[in-house]
Formats: sequence, structure tokens, C-alpha cells
Amino acid sequence: MQGPIPTGCKPLDKYLGGGLPCDTITLVYGEEETGKTTFAIQCAVNCAKMGQKTLFIDCDNSFSVQRLNQMTMKRFDSIAELIILTRPNDFLEQAVIMDRLAEYVTKNFSLTIVDTFTSLYRLRVSEYPSKTFELNRELNRQLAVLAQTAKTKGIPVLITSQVHSVLNDLPAAVEPVATRVLEFWSSTIIALKPTENPQTIRMTLEKNLSGQEVKTWKTAIEESGIHDCYGH
Ligand SMILES: Nc1ncnc2c1ncn2[C@@H]1O[C@H](COP(=O)(O)OP(=O)(O)OP(=O)(O)O)[C@@H](O)[C@H]1O
Ligand SMILES: [Mg+2]
Repeated sequence: MQGPIPTGCKPLDKYLGGGLPCDTITLVYGEEETGKTTFAIQCAVNCAKMGQKTLFIDCDNSFSVQRLNQMTMKRFDSIAELIILTRPNDFLEQAVIMDRLAEYVTKNFSLTIVDTFTSLYRLRVSEYPSKTFELNRELNRQLAVLAQTAKTKGIPVLITSQVHSVLNDLPAAVEPVATRVLEFWSSTIIALKPTENPQTIRMTLEKNLSGQEVKTWKTAIEESGIHDCYGH
């Protein structure tokens, strides 16, 4: 166990007491292209800079070597070898990975990331709407496994979730249920919202372990990652 993993966003790290808290789940949510994956990769990079391994469960096929290269520069090789990438093809494969989490938690292992946690679930629900109840139960079970692993092994878990417009292909009741389940299991919740400038994102710490009031500030998405936004 290493301790909190710095996110690299200074105000956030300050409010969180160093970074992603150990023992619990942190949820980052936002609309498309608000930097959730960039944020997740950045946390994995920071974990690797501490000599620690990350399990990166890439459910969207959006982890890009090119993006990692931009964010690590000359340290690419030493950082990449500490990121264990796994790509479930469907919600069932995602379930199998959750069940085998303990196998990944070996020496020098300090972070688990699931990006985007709900995309394969959503796909399955849209294919099999009559199974929504079972799928919700499975979603809940996977979060329980993650929360338990975080707690017993003292390893931070970071999950991301995409906010969808009301007009989508899922049954009307699915969206609020999934959101409630994610919020229930997450001790720390960070919202990413677009601004009028596509390179600038509003970051809000909506819930944290110390129960502080909601904090909000601006960040910039740059080639090297998500950073503080100076001059705003
Ligand atoms: N090299 C780069 N330099 C600057 N900005 C970049 C770079 N690569 C990507 N971006 C910006 O990052 C944003 C997308 O980030 P990211 O993929 O992390 O979003 P996301 O929230 O994970 O999206 P999704 O909901 O589709 O998964 C886009 O606005 C894109 O313009
Ligand atoms: Mg993404």
C-alpha cells in the first residue's frame, strides 16, 4: 500500500489530502470529451512515477499509447511497463475481471481504474432490456467487489462514468438507477463539465471523505494532461 495517488490537479490533490484516497472508490463523471480518460491515464502515470503498478480496465478501448506517450515524454517505457492494461469486450468479461481482481493485487500494486465503468453495462441493457433487473444487480455486485478490494487491500479505485442526454436508447428508468448505484458506492465524486472553451473544463469536488463543502475550479486539457488553469 502506497498512500493516496496524486491526480496532478493541484486544487483537487489539496482538497483530497494528497490524491485519490486509499480504501475507497472515487468516481469521475462528465459528458463526452470532458477529459475523464485523460484524467484516468494521468493518475496511472503518477502512480507509475512512484514505482507502483496500476490495473487499467479499459472498457471503451480508449486507452491510447499515443496519448500516454504525450503525457510521459521520455519516461514512456518505464511508465508503460507499470500499467497493466485489460480490455473486456462485454459486460460478462468485465464481471470476470472483477472476480479476478485479487490476482492482480500483487507486490507494488497501488491503483485500480475502470474506464468507463458503465459503458458495457449500458450496451448489455440496450441489447437485453428484459434483463435490466439482473444487470443492475450485477452492476451493484461489481462495485461491491471493487469497494471491498479497496478496503481490504488499501488500494484506491478510480471509476469513470459518462453522462448521457435524456434522449438515448436505454429504458427511461435505467439511467437514474445506474447513477444512484455509482453514487452510493463512491466516497469521492468529481464532476467534469465543459465550458465555452473546449480546452477548459470545470472540475467540481462534489463529495469527499472529510465532508467538506462542494469546491469548484477550472482546469485545462493540454497535450501533457489535465492541469491547473492559470489566469481564470
Ligand atoms: N494531445 C492533446 N492535446 C490537447 N487536448 C487533447 C489531446 N488529446 C485529447 N485532447 C482533448 O481531450 C478531450 C478528450 O478527452 P478524453 O478522451 O479524456 O475525454 P472523455 O471524457 O474520456 O471522453 P468520453 O466520454 O468520450 O470517454 C477532448 O476535448 C480532446 O480535444
Ligand atoms: Mg473516455
